Amino acid sequence: MGTVMLSVPPAQHTGTGSKATGLAFAPVASDIEEADRIFDHTLSQYRSPFGSLIEHLRHYRGKRLRPALLLLTAKSCGKVTPQHHTLAAAVEMIHTATLVHDDVLDEAELRRHIPTVNAGWGNKVSILLGDMLFTHSFHLTSTVDRRACEIIGEATNRVCAGELRQVTERGNLNLTEADYFAIIDGKTAALTECCGKLGALYAGASEEVATRLGNFGRNLGLAFQIADDLLDLVGNEDTAGKTLGTDLEQQKLTLPVIHCLNRLPVAEAESLRAAIRDGESGLGRRVLVALEKSQSLAYARRKAEEIARTARQELECLPRGECRMILEAMTDWSVKREK
Ligand code: IPE
Ligand code: IPE
Ligand code: MG
Ligand code: MG
Repeated sequence: MGTVMLSVPPAQHTGTGSKATGLAFAPVASDIEEADRIFDHTLSQYRSPFGSLIEHLRHYRGKRLRPALLLLTAKSCGKVTPQHHTLAAAVEMIHTATLVHDDVLDEAELRRHIPTVNAGWGNKVSILLGDMLFTHSFHLTSTVDRRACEIIGEATNRVCAGELRQVTERGNLNLTEADYFAIIDGKTAALTECCGKLGALYAGASEEVATRLGNFGRNLGLAFQIADDLLDLVGNEDTAGKTLGTDLEQQKLTLPVIHCLNRLPVAEAESLRAAIRDGESGLGRRVLVALEKSQSLAYARRKAEEIARTARQELECLPRGECRMILEAMTDWSVKREK
């Protein structure tokens, strides 16, 4: 793969919280900055050998949803500690590693409004950079304690197994809803679950509250991924800032398409399967027409809303206040977001 010209992203694409999501992370804004500082400091040792790559990572900033989730949960449970800052940096590092690898798997060229690492440096560099981010995350977490390593380790195992399962199911055009939910429960919800749990535990919350906030994070992650899969079909690349349409291209079935194939008359479903298998030209348009006919986009949106509601119920264990309100707003935003 050739090297592409890398450009510095415009400022409006790099912010956290309100800038990037329309959600205000104000109560933990300085804590997110501290987690960013730990993230940058960890990688600064590589500036000299891998200058342009590490510089690229400085602009490779997303919404910081996972650090925000961990820190808002912590604050809502009573306090944010230096351990939370380290853990927030560690989970964002795991997330970044999975994205660097995911863009290789999905052959994506754009992420966070700038070229992917694979587009700029190729697959080999992406694999090794992703590995380095994983190992640094665990090295950082080992400065907290053994339990944190276990929790982040277990979540990362689930994320990797989820991505692996999605790759091995590629081309399976009879994938079921249960298979789909098992995939997204691993690849996305495991890490958001871990954020809710860690935020609570290291603020001194009870095991019961930590479990409920873990469930909050897990359901938030499921709703978030369903919305992401809708965006892959009907979103706008300029707004999302990443390559879309890769799921169909890669023959990875997501919730709307699974629902549609189950709803269409058998012969029509078979014909659509053949079109997906052959990568027929105009496939995107054809699938959209079928999705409208079977009302599958509306079905997936309803499902995401239902799961977001389940997430919201778990927040009842928290005292009312600004942080809880923001966590509640995150559940709505996760479903309705455009990026
Ligand atoms: C992208 O996650 C990967 C998914 C789980 C869908 P985000 O949308 O949180 O990515 P960034 O960090 O903001 O780029
Ligand atoms: C992102 O998954 C990677 C993980 C959740 C680990 P997707 O491939 O569905 O998400 P995007 O659209 O590339 O961000
Ligand atoms: Mg992808
Ligand atoms: Mg993917």
